Formats: sequence, C-alpha cells, structure tokens
Amino acid sequence: MRPFFSYYGAKYTTAAYLGKPRRDLVIEPFAGSASYSTRWNARRVKLYDVSPDICELWDFLINCPTTDIANIPDSFDDFTDIEKLARGQQLLCRFWVAKGRAQPTLTLSPWYFKFRESGSCHVWGPQVKARIIRQKELIMDWTIDQMSWEDIPICDAHWHVDPPYNNKPGSKYPFSKVNFEALGKWCQELPGAVDVCENLGADWLEFEHLCDIVSSRGRRSGAVSKEAVWRKPGWSTDPNEIQKIATADAAAERNTGHG
Ligand SMILES: C[S@@+](CC[C@H](N)C(=O)[O-])C[C@H]1O[C@@H](n2cnc3c(N)ncnc32)[C@H](O)[C@@H]1O
Repeated sequence: MRPFFSYYGAKYTTAAYLGKPRRDLVIEPFAGSASYSTRWNARRVKLYDVSPDICELWDFLINCPTTDIANIPDSFDDFTDIEKLARGQQLLCRFWVAKGRAQPTLTLSPWYFKFRESGSCHVWGPQVKARIIRQKELIMDWTIDQMSWEDIPICDAHWHVDPPYNNKPGSKYPFSKVNFEALGKWCQELPGAVDVCENLGADWLEFEHLCDIVSSRGRRSGAVSKEAVWRKPGWSTDPNEIQKIATADAAAERNTGHG
C-alpha cells in the first residue's frame, strides 16, 4: 500500500530498511500516518495515538463508505471549499493540500498549487482519491484508539514504536512530551518483536544507525535525517534482504512519488 496521507515524520521510506513484520499482528503505539503497516501491507493492525485529529482521521479512513471519498471534489481553488466538507473528509484533505505537516493545515499551500495539475499523487486529486478507494478494503481489519502508549493493552505482536524524536524536530507535534526513560523500559519488556525508531544520537536505548533519509525539503537544502533503530535482541533481520527491498523501494519512489 502507498501512504493514506502525508505526515511530518512519516516512516514510509525508513520502513523498507526495517524489514517486514515478524509477527502477524502489528501494533503502532505512535500511529501518525502508520507508514510501517502501510508499507508492508499489514492486514492485522492496532493503531494508537494521543492526537484527536489523527485518531478521527484513521477512524474515518477505516470505517467510511468509499462514496465518502469519491464525493470529495477533485481539486480546490480556495480553503473555504475544504471547510464545507464533513469532518473526516476535511481532515483527510487538510493533510493532502500541504506536505509533511504535524497537524492539519489551515491554508492551501504553494506545494498544493505546484502539483495540483501534475496528475501524480503528490497532492490531493483524482489519483489520490482512486488510491485511497483502492486500498480501503486492505485496512478493514485495522483499529484505532486514542490512548497514550503507557495505557495500551500488551500482547505478543510486532511492535513498531515511533515516538516523536527526543530532540528539537520531535517537538513540532502538538503532542510531543514523552517520558523517554519510562518508554525505554516499557519497550524492553514488550513481548514479541520490537523495533524502536529514533534519530542517531538519542541515548534512551542503545540505538544503532539504520539509514540516511533525504526528505523532499532536504532535497532542496541537502539536509539528511540519520535514522536509528533499537531492536529487541533476538529479532535481527537479514541485512541482504533489507538492502534489496530498500533499493527497490527507492527506485519505485523516484518513479512515482508517494505523496
Ligand atoms: C513520529 S510520529 C509517528 C509517525 C508514524 N510512524 C508515521 O509513519 O507517520 C509520532 C506520533 O506520536 C504521537 N504521540 C505523541 N505522544 C504520544 C503518546 N504519549 N502516546 C501515543 N502517541 C503519542 C504524535 O501525535 C505523533 O502522531
């Protein structure tokens, strides 16, 4: 599957380097746009987030009839066109008319006008609508609950743990205050396979360098995000397999743009 919406800190590219889920059930305690489960076509997924907007948007995506997506206009000339939509439709479009925002935008961005006529999935348009409608049946068994990580019911699963980074970029989310010492201890005690994402330099677990990611903003500025991972011991993934997948994924992304 391709991303259901554009989100700040999404891990769609990084997901390829993490390798496929090592359990049938995937749990994302810090869901955001749930790029890991999306990238790996996971069918049994439990999502959690404290952001009411994120939870409402996933609830809409999982449970709305496809006609609710089909009935959204193909393009917008003015932000008031979006304000006329129902709440779930609004949230979806507000993430698609800007790029990589930590919360739904309140304006149509220059990025939107640049790509509006491109016929691609960079911004909201008929191609994005068709993609979401096509993919919707694949997330029919996903669930979303508004809950903080420490309250999540624990069970054996593949845990993809991607909190806001414990640094300045991580503070851009409306909800970003996390007790990292307690979170580190919680991650070490989770049953099943556990991958925890961070930026290189974080020290609340023994993180190792995973990959360097250039964002669309970074393609202009040259900025690179050094992604790191902590994996629960005993669950390493074959590095040759990961490299093959990551190379193929990078090529696909260059050709299509994943929005
Ligand atoms: C780095 S983003 C996740 C990005 C996601 N992996 C993706 O691919 O889009 C971190 C998310 O954690 C959420 N969050 C912040 N504090 C939280 C908490 N205490 N419990 C659960 N979620 C939280 C934020 O709202 C944000 O959506």
